Amino acid sequence: MSVSSDRPSSPEWLAVPDDANALADGVWPDSADRDADGVLHVGGVAVTDLRARFGTPLYVLDESLVRERARRVREAFRSAGDRHGAQTRVYYASKAFLSAEVVRWVTAEGLHVDVASGGELAVALAAGAAPARLGLHGNNKLAVELEQAVEVGVGSVIVDSPIEIERLAAVAERRGRVQEVLVRVNSGVHAETHDFLATAHEDQKFGFALADADAVVARIRELPSLRFAGLHCHIGSQIFGAAGFAESAARLVEVHARLRAGGEIPVLNLGGGFGIAYTSVDDPTPIEQLADRIVDAVARECGARGIPIPTLAFEPGRAIVGQAGVTLYEVGTVKPVRVSDELERLYVSVDGGMSDNARPSLYGAQYAARIASRTSTAAPALARVVGRHCESGDIVVDAEYLPGDVTPGDLLAVPATGAYCFSLASNYNYVPRPPVVAVRDGQARVIVRGESIADLLARDAGIPQKPVPIEETE
Ligand code: LLP
Repeated sequence: MSVSSDRPSSPEWLAVPDDANALADGVWPDSADRDADGVLHVGGVAVTDLRARFGTPLYVLDESLVRERARRVREAFRSAGDRHGAQTRVYYASKAFLSAEVVRWVTAEGLHVDVASGGELAVALAAGAAPARLGLHGNNKLAVELEQAVEVGVGSVIVDSPIEIERLAAVAERRGRVQEVLVRVNSGVHAETHDFLATAHEDQKFGFALADADAVVARIRELPSLRFAGLHCHIGSQIFGAAGFAESAARLVEVHARLRAGGEIPVLNLGGGFGIAYTSVDDPTPIEQLADRIVDAVARECGARGIPIPTLAFEPGRAIVGQAGVTLYEVGTVKPVRVSDELERLYVSVDGGMSDNARPSLYGAQYAARIASRTSTAAPALARVVGRHCESGDIVVDAEYLPGDVTPGDLLAVPATGAYCFSLASNYNYVPRPPVVAVRDGQARVIVRGESIADLLARDAGIPQKPVPIEETE
C-alpha cells in the first residue's frame, strides 16, 4: 500500500512556521510549556522524566484537562438548558478513551457514561460508575451483553433494530424487569467533517429511518418489559459547526412531538461529535456556542409545537479527552527524501506508529508534532513522521515543519492524541501497546500498564508457557 504518491507534497494549509518550537493554542494541553532548557512539560512533568521512568512510545494524559473539559461541557449544556428551563445530561462516550481512572474523573465531574460493548460496560462498572447512569449502545449487542445490562440495571439501552427490541424485551421479561430504552434514529443529517449535507436515506448500519420511528415506538410501547424513554441520534464525529446539530435536532423534535400522542417522552439524546483542533488551522466552534445553538433549536421547535422540552442528553467523547492527550516518541532515524526538484521531505521515523495511532492511516487524519526534549533554532524543514511498521501508510504525522536538525534520540511529541488512539491501538507487527500515564500537578502515574513482549507471547498457544513458579514456604 502506498499513500504517499497521491498526497500533496506540502499541503496548502501548512504554512512554514516562524518558530518550529511553538506550541499552538488549542491543540496542546493548556498545561504544555517549555522550561528554560526547552524541555516540554505537560501537567507540570518534564517529558524527559517521563521517558526515563516509562519509556517510549508513551501516551500522556493531562488529568486536570480531562476533568476541566468534562466540567466545561457539562456546564455549557447546563447553562444552555437553564435559559429555557430545560434539563440536560452529558454522557462521556467512553469509546474515545476508556480506563477506570478516566471513568472516575468524568463521573466525579457529574457526567454519565456511554458504553458500546460488554467490555466497556465491565470497565465502567469496575470503576464504580452507577449502572443507572450508563447508556448501552451497539448495532449488534450480544445476547450476553443484553442480559448483563438488564441484570446490573443499566439506565438505558439504545436499541438499534427490530430484532434487538424483541430480544431485549424477552431478556427483561424473563428477569422481571422493565428496561428503559431509547430508539436510535437517523435524522438524515449526515455530518461531513466541517459541514453537513442532508440526505433522505442513510445507507449505513446504525439506527432506524426516522420514517419508521412511529411503528418502532408503537411496538416498544406494546411490550410491558420495555419503557420507551426517547429518541437518540448521533450525526457523526469531529464536527466543527453547529448547523448540522441544530438541523438534526429540529427534525427529531418533529417526530418526538408526534410520538407524544402515545405518552410522555422524558428524554431526547442528540449524541456527540463535537470537533477538536488537531492542527493550528483547525477552528472548532467553542462548546458553549454549540450548546446554545443546539438547545435553542430544540427550544424553538418545542415552543412552536407547544410541548415541554424533554431532558436533553449529549454524548461527547473526543471533546472531553482529545486535547488532553500527548503521545511521546523517540526519533530513531532521519532520512531526507527528494520528492521532486523543488521538494525534499525529511522522513522522521519514531518508535511507534499505526499501532498506537491508527487515525492517519484509517482516516487520513492530520496531526502536529514538535521536538519535545529541546528547542532548536535550525530552519524548519518539511517532515513526515512515520512509524516503524511494515506498511508505507504507517504515518504518524503526514506533514509538519520540524527544526531541520531533528536527530535520533530526540523526543517527539504529538498533541491531541487523547481520543481514539489508545482505543484503536493494535499489536500490528507484534508491537506491544504503550502504557498510559496520567500527569497532574507535577506528578505522573500509570493508569494503564503497557504491554510487554511476554504479554503477547502468552497468548500464542503454540509457545510453551513457563510454568507458574510455586511460592516457596519456609
Ligand atoms: N455517541 C455515539 C452513538 C457514537 O457513535 C459516538 C462515536 C459518540 C457518541 C462520540 O463521538 P465523539 O464525541 O467522540 O465524536 N474512530 C473515529 C471516531 C468514531 C466515532 C464513533 N462514534 C475517529 O478516530 O475519529
